[in-house]
Amino acid sequence: MAILVTGGAGYIGSHTVRELVEDGRDVVVYDNLSRGHREAVGEGTPLVVGDINDYIKLKETMQKYAIDSVIHFAAESQVGESMANPEKYYFNNVVGTLNLLKAMKDCDVKKIVFSSSAAVYGEPQEIPITERCPKNPTSVYGRTKLMVEKILVDYDVAYGIRHVALRYFNAAGAHVSGEIGEDHTPETHLIPIIMEVALGKRDKIKIFGTNYPTPDGTCIRDYIHVTDLAKAHILALDWLINGGPSRAYNLGNEKGFSVLEVIETVERITGIKIPREDTSRRLGDPAVLIASSKKITDELGWIPRYTTLDDMVKTAWNWHSKNPNGFNDK
Ligand code: UFG
Repeated sequence: MAILVTGGAGYIGSHTVRELVEDGRDVVVYDNLSRGHREAVGEGTPLVVGDINDYIKLKETMQKYAIDSVIHFAAESQVGESMANPEKYYFNNVVGTLNLLKAMKDCDVKKIVFSSSAAVYGEPQEIPITERCPKNPTSVYGRTKLMVEKILVDYDVAYGIRHVALRYFNAAGAHVSGEIGEDHTPETHLIPIIMEVALGKRDKIKIFGTNYPTPDGTCIRDYIHVTDLAKAHILALDWLINGGPSRAYNLGNEKGFSVLEVIETVERITGIKIPREDTSRRLGDPAVLIASSKKITDELGWIPRYTTLDDMVKTAWNWHSKNPNGFNDK
């Protein structure tokens, strides 16, 4: 019996695979390597190079490795790109997941942990955001995640496939070893972009908006360490293994940091001055996103370990400074 991890060569996927393997679980990674990295998958973990839109390959993989449960990360995840190219997002994130669910149904695999996103909420009506808050995604990316959550509910009722949907806030940091970390092309996320400035690969960080209704005028986000996110997937999987019903949970640290606070933290930790430029707002960015993670703490006993911004920035800097070209340095 093994766990199939789709997108297991990506950022959050590879950190989850690492925790699963350290916990003694049998894992098979399924990744088309369009965004993921072969080097992010540890030696000894089988990697099937395949697409989630390839139903036959999914089914063959599930049969070959006697797959018993799925953790599903494989998806496109850039908000801006999703608006410019919705077709890519609906095909990969929604149709791809339908193929995965069809293969699960046909192979009698009844448990799935799904990577959802804070993007399902859109512009929040209240802070902190609880799971009961209205879900009005403002991007195609967020809509794909919400659609899949709804599909999962229907597949539970009709076919008995139970799920846990995890709505991540802003994933950050890297494995403490510095052996795996964040490596996106192109990079769009705040912390790795600031790291690229620190490494001299970019000349400055552009701050997207300085007139938000926040104390320093820049956007506030809830950053959560990727290893804490990874651990939540194991708890979610065990919940399903132990017969728990389908659930959706937020995952954040319940604390917000502004863009300026993040830049200042990087400067303090690296000792490098980060040149910055104030620019206009990025379309679709809410001013403040802060999670309530009470539900997953109460129900699954999830307790984050790396809760300070320093923890996230230090581990991210450890990875980026050791691997300035990401997995190309491997
Ligand atoms: N930012 C900048 N300059 C940059 C990059 C980002 O000022 O060069 C700002 C953004 O405007 C935002 C904050 O830094 O206020 C964080 O931006 P990220 O792109 O790192 O993260 P987002 O909050 O936009 O995105 C995250 C996840 C998405 C998810 C989204 C909404 O990465 O997958 O939250 O929940 F869809």
